[in-house]
Amino acid sequence: MAKPRQLITLLYFLIAFVMHCHSSQERKVHVVYMGEKPTGDNVMEPTPYYMQCLERVLGSTEAAKESLIYSYGRSFNGFAAKLSDQEVARFSGMEGVVSVLPNTMFQLHTTRSWDFLGFTDHQSHHVGDSKGGDVIIGIIDTGIWPESASFNDEGFGPPPAKWNGTCQTNNNFTCNNKIIGARYYNGQKAYFEDDIESPRDSLGHGSHTASIAGGREVEGASYYGLAKGVARGGAPDARIAVYKVCWSIGCYAADVLAAFDDAIADGVDIISISIGQSFVVHYWEDPAAIGSFHAMKRGIFTSASAGNFGPDRAAVQNYAPWLLTVGASTIDRKFVSYLVLGNGQIFTGYSINSFEHKGTLFPLIWGGDAANYSANFIPQTSSYCYPGTLDSYKVMGKIVLCEDPSDGYGVIMGNGVGIIMPSQPKDNIAAPFSLPTTLISREDISRVMEYIRSSKYPEATILVSEAVKDDSAPYAASFSSRGPSPIAPDILKPDLTAPGVNILAAWSPTAPASVYRDDTRSTEYYVNSGTSMSCPHASGAAAYVKATHPTWSPAAIKSAIMTTAYVIDPNKYENEREFAYGSGLLNPAKAVDPGLVFNASAWDYMDFLCKQGYNTTTLRLISGDRSACRRTKPGRGWDLNYPSFSLPIEDGNKINGIFRRTVTNVGSPNSTYYATVDVPESLNVTVKPSVLPFSAVGEKKRFVVEVSGAEVSQVPIISGSITWNDGVHAVRTPLVVYTVLPSAFNFSSPTTKSAATAASVHPKNGIFWGY
Ligand SMILES: *[C@@H]1O[C@H](CO)[C@@H](O)[C@H](O)[C@H]1NC(C)=O
Ligand SMILES: *[C@@H]1O[C@H](CO)[C@@H](O)[C@H](O)[C@H]1NC(C)=O
Ligand SMILES: *[C@@H]1O[C@H](CO)[C@@H](O)[C@H](O)[C@H]1NC(C)=O
Ligand SMILES: *[C@@H]1O[C@H](CO)[C@@H](O)[C@H](O)[C@H]1NC(C)=O
Ligand SMILES: *[C@@H]1O[C@H](CO)[C@@H](O)[C@H](O)[C@H]1NC(C)=O
Ligand SMILES: *[C@@H]1O[C@H](CO)[C@@H](O)[C@H](O)[C@H]1NC(C)=O
Ligand SMILES: *[C@@H]1O[C@H](CO)[C@@H](O)[C@H](O)[C@H]1NC(C)=O
Repeated sequence: MAKPRQLITLLYFLIAFVMHCHSSQERKVHVVYMGEKPTGDNVMEPTPYYMQCLERVLGSTEAAKESLIYSYGRSFNGFAAKLSDQEVARFSGMEGVVSVLPNTMFQLHTTRSWDFLGFTDHQSHHVGDSKGGDVIIGIIDTGIWPESASFNDEGFGPPPAKWNGTCQTNNNFTCNNKIIGARYYNGQKAYFEDDIESPRDSLGHGSHTASIAGGREVEGASYYGLAKGVARGGAPDARIAVYKVCWSIGCYAADVLAAFDDAIADGVDIISISIGQSFVVHYWEDPAAIGSFHAMKRGIFTSASAGNFGPDRAAVQNYAPWLLTVGASTIDRKFVSYLVLGNGQIFTGYSINSFEHKGTLFPLIWGGDAANYSANFIPQTSSYCYPGTLDSYKVMGKIVLCEDPSDGYGVIMGNGVGIIMPSQPKDNIAAPFSLPTTLISREDISRVMEYIRSSKYPEATILVSEAVKDDSAPYAASFSSRGPSPIAPDILKPDLTAPGVNILAAWSPTAPASVYRDDTRSTEYYVNSGTSMSCPHASGAAAYVKATHPTWSPAAIKSAIMTTAYVIDPNKYENEREFAYGSGLLNPAKAVDPGLVFNASAWDYMDFLCKQGYNTTTLRLISGDRSACRRTKPGRGWDLNYPSFSLPIEDGNKINGIFRRTVTNVGSPNSTYYATVDVPESLNVTVKPSVLPFSAVGEKKRFVVEVSGAEVSQVPIISGSITWNDGVHAVRTPLVVYTVLPSAFNFSSPTTKSAATAASVHPKNGIFWGY
């Protein structure tokens, strides 16, 4: 296989996902997921058991041996193996098999951000008896650069006693008392030139996310002098365990599941996963949902990125109710790079430009005026400046105006000295390029065009970027995937938003120092944007909560993080509001003292699954115990004890919904909470009772929320909130009402069909092109 040239956009890799729907004799990697580990005395060891299953289907021990890629079995039941379509069909019908998944590809989706969140360095250190040092954050990503100053272990003692992991030290990789474990997974043996066969991160992404969640303070960190200051993670004292599943080609499902299987058994407390699949699947076809379900059962909290497919509706990824889904928003720092024209006009653009044009004016040309006619390109196409479309004689030594954003490769090929590109409205995303670049609005692109057309010798210069205050923050980034949940409209997703725009954090010195992948410069800190960056902010905050309250369940931690979030003004948004930011902006300092929590056990999530159409047979496969689905009317998930309220209404129907919730007191023993409802006039909302007196910590109280209103149709979102207040704590939960098609309630039970079949009939499958 040739090395696929990664088309790096401003934000992340675009990887085409090819569906294989045709029948094939060729054996391809699949995951055979078999639910919870069986318990009891007569249970076989996992590997011999899987071999036995494989032998039965494949016909020989030899074939079974050759086919098996992974035995999971440390934390849940299942294996990965090479199977033909017929073999997949046989496994799909087999007793005990929950689902058979193709080995689909996942995509990878400072540090001013913590200060912006009001979370001081001092606060981040003073938590719990162990000062945070007992909390282990598992990072499922591209690996880590262990020599980075962000992961220095000076002052750290040996790993906590509960640690049961390992460090794979191939090719010169080392762990320390900060990075206490590291593993890598590449079941397909798909290594390409940039890949290092060890947990070492050659791409930069995993080092970036790990340092956001748990990096220690590093003074004087900057990207070529820009954004200079202290780089730090949310939980600087936490330990880091690394699970490398992403390579230059992407991240495979079988590897992601293997990482969860190990992370759970190794003893991590928090799992941070900044990757996702770009098509809609049910929970048991989604490795991140399966893995985080088993993690939740063992008290491990998972935080996942919402995806970079916004601002499309229902584009949110990682939407299982037992994990925290994190969207991305801006911080109060933006990077501007001014464009100065020969006539003195100045335009404000966005980009991380560390290059000094030193005020020198360079000739300015429109890409369309440099069409490479010999290669049969015309001005209209060359105006986008795609690689190979420009005439290098005309571009050499010039600043080029391009009509489409790119990594700049087309202009670099033609030896241009600068690029002007159009920006996305509202985002202020600034990406680093390998030559002076600025992104200006489409309107300003037209103004610069006018200047080019009206001057004999158009000239321009691009100034070094400056960090300036952004008063519009926090604003949900347009790339951040929006809700509602594509498969469970009763659960509001994403859960909240966290900083994910222009975040400075650790980088691999061997990774490209800009969005241009052949950039040969080296940097130890890098400015990056995406929900990949917002997710580890929530993971860091969760580690802080866990260090303070080691016995809290994943649902309690999640509730604490959501109900204490900074309120975002919905009036800044038109049709998306909570579907862009969920409960609001992460507020780590408040999350340790939420007052009340909406707790939930594994049983509660299984009850939710019953209401989504699972029956006792299918449920037991997943739970591995004697749990049963009571005979409830299938279809609604309103009563899952979730810290938000989502009410989907079929077009033309009256608004009508009842939610039952239970809150647990984790604040002062004696306290009385009063409910406040904040909703627009189109809704009638009552909370019964509206006063909840508590006399002990751990005491539980129930309440019921009734929502009603007139007939509605085509309502994108009505947003409000319910807040419980005791004078000290404000426990805020968003409430949204929106209209859906009747088909939104056609829930599906776990399918024993392969996900490729399931996905191919789903409207949201296929290739997504993000920004
Ligand atoms: C540690 O991992 C090993 C290997 O998977 C397992 O056998 C053992 O039970 C684990 N120990 C603990 C305490 O979880
Ligand atoms: C091991 O890693 C260190 C630090 O990156 C490097 O200096 C050294 O050359 C490496 N050695 C080998 C054999 O790769
Ligand atoms: C025109 O395009 C071809 C193919 O991309 C390229 O090889 C050639 O160098 C280009 N010509 C100039 C003058 O840039
Ligand atoms: C939440 O429920 C779990 C059991 O599911 C329990 O262990 C925990 O103590 C409860 N409370 C909190 C605050 O986590
Ligand atoms: C449970 O659901 C599965 C999958 O939808 C179905 O095949 C099975 O017949 C159901 N079992 C019962 C007892 O309804
Ligand atoms: C809480 O109130 C009860 C009765 O009002 C009282 O007996 C108890 O001492 C109080 N507890 C605390 C910790 O204040
Ligand atoms: C809310 O309830 C009141 C009293 O029952 C009723 O008069 C009013 O029309 C209701 N408003 C809506 C929007 O349904």
